[in-house]
Amino acid sequence: MISQTWNVAQAKAVTNIFWVILAGGLVSWVVILLVRRAPKSEAHVESVPKSEPLFQTPAPKPLDLSEKDLNAPILYRPCKHGPNFITMGLRKVEWDDLIEMDSNFMEYHDIKAQELKKDFKSHVQYLDNPNVRDACCETYEEIAMYLTHRYPRVFKLEGDYVRNVATGEQFPFPETDAAKALAHAALMVQDDLILMVEEEDGQYHLDAGAVCLPGFWRLHEKYRMSLDTLHIEAGVPHYEEKLMKSMNRYFKTMTVDKPITRNNFFIQLDDGLHWSHRMGDQDGSEVASWERSDSTNLHVEEVHFRSERQTLRRLPRSKSLLFTVRTYFEPITVIAQEPHIPGRLAEAIRSWDDTVSKYKGKKHWEHILLPYLDEQHRLQVENGVMETKEEGAFPF
Ligand code: HEM
Repeated sequence: MISQTWNVAQAKAVTNIFWVILAGGLVSWVVILLVRRAPKSEAHVESVPKSEPLFQTPAPKPLDLSEKDLNAPILYRPCKHGPNFITMGLRKVEWDDLIEMDSNFMEYHDIKAQELKKDFKSHVQYLDNPNVRDACCETYEEIAMYLTHRYPRVFKLEGDYVRNVATGEQFPFPETDAAKALAHAALMVQDDLILMVEEEDGQYHLDAGAVCLPGFWRLHEKYRMSLDTLHIEAGVPHYEEKLMKSMNRYFKTMTVDKPITRNNFFIQLDDGLHWSHRMGDQDGSEVASWERSDSTNLHVEEVHFRSERQTLRRLPRSKSLLFTVRTYFEPITVIAQEPHIPGRLAEAIRSWDDTVSKYKGKKHWEHILLPYLDEQHRLQVENGVMETKEEGAFPF
């Protein structure tokens, strides 16, 4: 009897242990499932490698210049002896020299301010998404950082404002509105500012810009275009066969620590820094082109040497590419007085092939410009002017 009671008790205990183990197993299984589905814990995030620390743009060395003693514009003369091909022509630029401010600042500023007042939306545009908005604000922050360090007597960071001593303007700093950020930046420099952003097609597109002094194109005509479309539509000579592949590779692989620069030049038929009216009506809807240009009664005094100093760098935070275009603009009759220039410029123009000549509109001005340059060169040789100054190396 005793052993029978014991057996029944034993069987009950075994059954209980079985249920306890089963329930325990079930609970553990449910817990494992829940943990797997739960968002990653802090500990898990910790185990993911941290992203690289943000690259800090080096601050430029200060120049002890007030707005009254800014240097005269740099004389870029990017024309060579011998053949002048259209090339990428990229060179390294020092952090100190990213932006050049000179004694023409007020003139550039006032034209920009006037253009922005006249039609803000046609000069400042951005693609409204978080990355591009951030790139616009970052552009402003980088430019303010540069200017307040490089020209501390002209640009001052005071509390929540950047003050331009030369113009008396005060810009809120930092700025969260993308259009305002671009416009502040544009008014603080002589350059036009363009942001190239990688889109889903893997191409860089012109997704934002503050462009007030383009000469012969309008921002809305190029807005959102890819690097290739921009250049193909502008008719850049030999773009597809000679430039496209290397330019795209350059844009993709460019790193934050290596800004670059390049120079070019054009001949313009009037004195419009912001817009060449002989190329078309600024307020019209037609794309400006040499085919539609008007060179009737052209005098050499009207002809201008338009030269761009461009820079390109990758911004550290947004990773977009900031393209700056600084235009230097002088009458031909002025630059032709510089030793070596009339002869070298005429030689460069004569070296262009038919495609480049067409792109640069040569047939619309060569009959006025080339005889003039030849004559100035002849006078320089005759008067021994060339010996007075050593000839500069490219781009001078
Ligand atoms: C590394 C960067 C770049 C290179 C190497 C390059 C190269 C060139 C070249 C060779 C030309 C022919 C005239 C000249 O020599 O300048 C040209 C024209 C042009 N490029 Fe670029 N480009 C670059 C970036 C850009 C960007 C970012 C834009 C965006 C707006 C742009 C817009 C244009 C336009 C609109 C023209 C036609 C200018 C005119 O004929 O009025 N380029 N580019």
